[in-house]
Amino acid sequence: MTQNRVSPEANKDKVVIFDTTLRDGEQSPGATMTHDEKVEIAEMLDEMGVDIIEAGFPIASDGDFEAVSEIARRSKNSVICGLARANFKDIDRCFEAVKHAAKPRIHTFIGTSPLHRAIPNLTMDEMADKIHETVTHARNLCDNVQWSPMDATRTEWDYLARVVEIAIKAGATTINIPDTVGYTAPRESADLIRRLIAEVPGADAVIFATHCHNDLGMATANALAAVEGGARQIECTINGLGERAGNTALEEVVMALKVRGDIMPYTTGIETTKLMAISRRVASVSGFPVQFNKAIVGKNAFAHESGIHQDGMLKNAETFEIMRPEDVGLSETNLVMGKHSGRAALRSKLGELGYELADNQLADVFVRFKALADRKKEIYDDDLIALMQDEERSG
Ligand code: KIV
Ligand code: ZN
Repeated sequence: MTQNRVSPEANKDKVVIFDTTLRDGEQSPGATMTHDEKVEIAEMLDEMGVDIIEAGFPIASDGDFEAVSEIARRSKNSVICGLARANFKDIDRCFEAVKHAAKPRIHTFIGTSPLHRAIPNLTMDEMADKIHETVTHARNLCDNVQWSPMDATRTEWDYLARVVEIAIKAGATTINIPDTVGYTAPRESADLIRRLIAEVPGADAVIFATHCHNDLGMATANALAAVEGGARQIECTINGLGERAGNTALEEVVMALKVRGDIMPYTTGIETTKLMAISRRVASVSGFPVQFNKAIVGKNAFAHESGIHQDGMLKNAETFEIMRPEDVGLSETNLVMGKHSGRAALRSKLGELGYELADNQLADVFVRFKALADRKKEIYDDDLIALMQDEERSG
């Protein structure tokens, strides 16, 4: 009987949130962050309730080593994890950095698919031995060890099951199943985790994690499907930052689980009202702006311009919003004034600016507003004030 080594962060209804903004996110070309910026982001992640922070890749550079060490020293509640390839030197360097944390974790990985096996030119047996000895080594240093077969979703089933079993026997406490190139699809993602848990000896004693890339735009769907299949750790990044098309976005999976708890009854420990602030800070320090229509944190995620939508929103916010802006850290919905806006929104907006209009006056101002909106994409408060001053002069 395998000893139960499931990480203390886990219970069957909780999804552990593993944030890798500072490791996989920072690997996006051009997203490099300074030491102080990384420490600041790690503090924000810790405060918002992220269970595990992958703080960096300590062997990659002295700078990464120093950043991971300082994040580990300053950590309060989160587990601090560092990445290491499958060799003793990487693993030792990783532990040297994370050991300062109250809760350290070593994350070691190797590419197991045929394409990835060809790079170090190892036979399947040689790679299996390497996995056994490196996971054993990591486990001798640290109680909390995560192992990843990189490119798991393109690895032959028999070999994947074999190496996962080896890693569990060698002492891994979390098995992460990466979709390294964003190749899988939701049903397959769920089935793979379900089958691993059902068929690999010892699988019930570890946590399975999902790590999805977004090459086909399915990272969030694949991560949530993996949870349906039994994964209880989602690896993700703020704003979906990450290699190529990015990783699963933390804010998306967290809000999906919160809003659709009726069909996905799992909790996270994330304080969602902090999502907008960290999204903006990560965008600023990484230099990667958030697309306007990005789910949850985009500028337009809680903005409405069309008359029908604005009218509905003024009557009942649930008409066109499934989340409250306050739940993600915004003070209110933004009714954007533009050529699609209707009278109800114009009246409401002018009311906010201190102008109470009779119906006939509103009709007149509405005509002028539409003419202006045809010339200008977005009408700001100052435009409306100027329009009202003009109206008052001419009236
Ligand atoms: O995408 C990936 O496979 C990774 C591993 C290092 C876990 O980032
Ligand atoms: Zn990755």
